Amino acid sequence: MKKMVKIAPSILAADFARLGEEVIRAEKAGGDIIHVDIMDGHFVPNLTIGPAVVASLKKVTSLPLDVHLMVEEPDRFINDFAEAGASYLTVHAETGYHLERTVNFIREKGCKAGIALNPATPVENIKLVLEEIDLVLIMSVNPGFGGQEFIPFSIPKISQVKKMAEEIGREIEIEVDGGLNLDNVRDVVMAGATILVIGTTVFKAKSINETMAVLKKRVGEAMQG
Ligand code: DX5
Ligand code: ZN
Repeated sequence: MKKMVKIAPSILAADFARLGEEVIRAEKAGGDIIHVDIMDGHFVPNLTIGPAVVASLKKVTSLPLDVHLMVEEPDRFINDFAEAGASYLTVHAETGYHLERTVNFIREKGCKAGIALNPATPVENIKLVLEEIDLVLIMSVNPGFGGQEFIPFSIPKISQVKKMAEEIGREIEIEVDGGLNLDNVRDVVMAGATILVIGTTVFKAKSINETMAVLKKRVGEAMQG
């Protein structure tokens, strides 16, 4: 049976002065997961928010919080984000000297563990830890900013991760993040994506409800094949 595809609105494109209301708006429009981008100004050239904001958001939504850590030495922050209420904690493969240890640390804290890959990082880099993770996040833009253009060579990476997971008989979520819009969601779902992170297209839409409905329709069509 095909895995359900979930939509994860990314609050990076939301109005930060009204973040709680924005999360509720995304939930009411049909978002399945709330994607939260954490940036440290080192691993990526931008800054966002920390665990205190995540803990506040946890109080306004019942949706799972998907915390994407774009930070150097992510181990320093795992405990705080777990306690803040993250359901998924994803670290970048490029930031970890000891990825396997980091992944175990995340799971010990009771979160689902994800590993993110920048566009230029090959999927083979995570082959050995695939047994121990719940999610792979394929970046389809270079991380740091919303509103960038989708990088097409991300699509074969999705299929490669899907194949690698099937080979070891594991149900791993395949999340795609960056540049997704009404025109390209079909292709990523057909390649095997199971979580679609969507920022600008959702939060900057004229009507968030209509846009989410069209996204869901296109995802449904793609799942039919
Ligand atoms: C980029 C972030 C994304 C971003 C996607 O570094 O990881 O989650 O919010 O935004 P859009 O959908 O606008 O490309
Ligand atoms: Zn992200």
